[in-house]
Amino acid sequence: MHTQVGIIGAGPAGLLLAHLLHQKGIDSVVLERRDQEYVIDRVRAGVLEQFTADLMTQTGVGERLHREGMRHDDVYLSVGGKRHHVPLAELTGGKSIYVYGQNEVVKDLMNARIATGRPLHYEVSDLSIHGIDSAKPSIRFQHNGQQHELTCDFIAGCDGFHGICRSALGDHVTTYDRTYPFGWLGILAEAAPSSDALVYTYHQRGFALFSMRSPKITRLYFQVPPDEDIANWSDEAIWEEMLKRLTTDDGWKPNVGPILNKNVTAMRSFVTEPMQAGRLFLAGDAAHIVPPTGAKGLNLAAADVLLLGRAIAAYYADGKTALLDSYSSDALQRVWKAQRFSWWMTHTLHRFPDENPFDHKRQLADLDYITGSKAALTSLAENYVGLPLDTSF
Ligand code: APR
Ligand code: PHB
Repeated sequence: MHTQVGIIGAGPAGLLLAHLLHQKGIDSVVLERRDQEYVIDRVRAGVLEQFTADLMTQTGVGERLHREGMRHDDVYLSVGGKRHHVPLAELTGGKSIYVYGQNEVVKDLMNARIATGRPLHYEVSDLSIHGIDSAKPSIRFQHNGQQHELTCDFIAGCDGFHGICRSALGDHVTTYDRTYPFGWLGILAEAAPSSDALVYTYHQRGFALFSMRSPKITRLYFQVPPDEDIANWSDEAIWEEMLKRLTTDDGWKPNVGPILNKNVTAMRSFVTEPMQAGRLFLAGDAAHIVPPTGAKGLNLAAADVLLLGRAIAAYYADGKTALLDSYSSDALQRVWKAQRFSWWMTHTLHRFPDENPFDHKRQLADLDYITGSKAALTSLAENYVGLPLDTSF
């Protein structure tokens, strides 16, 4: 079996890369460890930057996003009980964000792939990669009880943070890592969103976030210790804490309803450099992780595969490897800026268990500055909607 690009992982990175390559007539095989339902049902974040939405639209997979997704021209920062309006579109020359669950993005890309009839295999096991320094690297895996060997021109490691591709890069990589002394307890609730815009909240008791999934579903989070056991939190206790942190002095609060899903996620920042070795290229969470406070994870995955898809397409068009050679350094420029922003949002909006009174006062001054300065709000808005990126493909 041979293909031009062997893609490992069918999350947003792998499926979007397969989609972009197909548009350029480049063949790929997508291999996913989990089953299809698991991948679709996984609850993840749900904010698309303007360029991610534009890319989906331009490449013909944005139809449901525009029908069911929610365009947001604003967010709120809530500090000390007061909501501060951040007019994203006004501050960024008309850019917005789109609230659309990552699993909806995955569903759209999965359907686009299935419509092409090209290979997308779920429940592959024992996957290993070989010969990445040769001209014909290969992937060995089990599928439907049979052993397979797939030779490729290139391998795309889109297998997420817990995948196997990153370790195949060898010893010459450097990793940069930071863990945070808290995690997020997140819920999906059957309740109409009580605000049109997301509300990022700094509260004395800790961070909280109001978001949504649809006109009937509210998505909420609050900061907890990183090893918090979700079993310690009854639905009543979750609502009590949520309302304490999110209710503002003007009486705004989220609508309460049955909790459909609840979990705790740890937070970390992580970068692998370089994101490439020989003919193996990493994209998305396989190469980097951001804490969710900046809503950048899915968008960074999309930016990576746009660059990688473009580089692979240029190679097949004229045999030149310049874009492949610079893929890692090109991608990392955006990755580090998103790391910086995600770290900054996280530091600014959370309570740190080891903070001293100076740290706390400085943080309050930071929040006071941001909410009172058009320049600071513009910087926040520019990063939040996504730094400029050429989406031509
Ligand atoms: N073989 C095949 N598939 C694998 C393997 C393996 N050995 N290991 C992992 N995978 C699959 C996972 O099951 C998963 O479906 O790779 C996929 C990786 O998908 P994601 O984790 O969604 O990562 P990515 O596509 O890079 O998307 C980044 O995901 O974690 C969020 O916030 C993050 O939104 C961001 C997005
Ligand atoms: C979400 O809706 O899940 C969400 C929104 C904004 C974030 C993180 C998660 O920063």
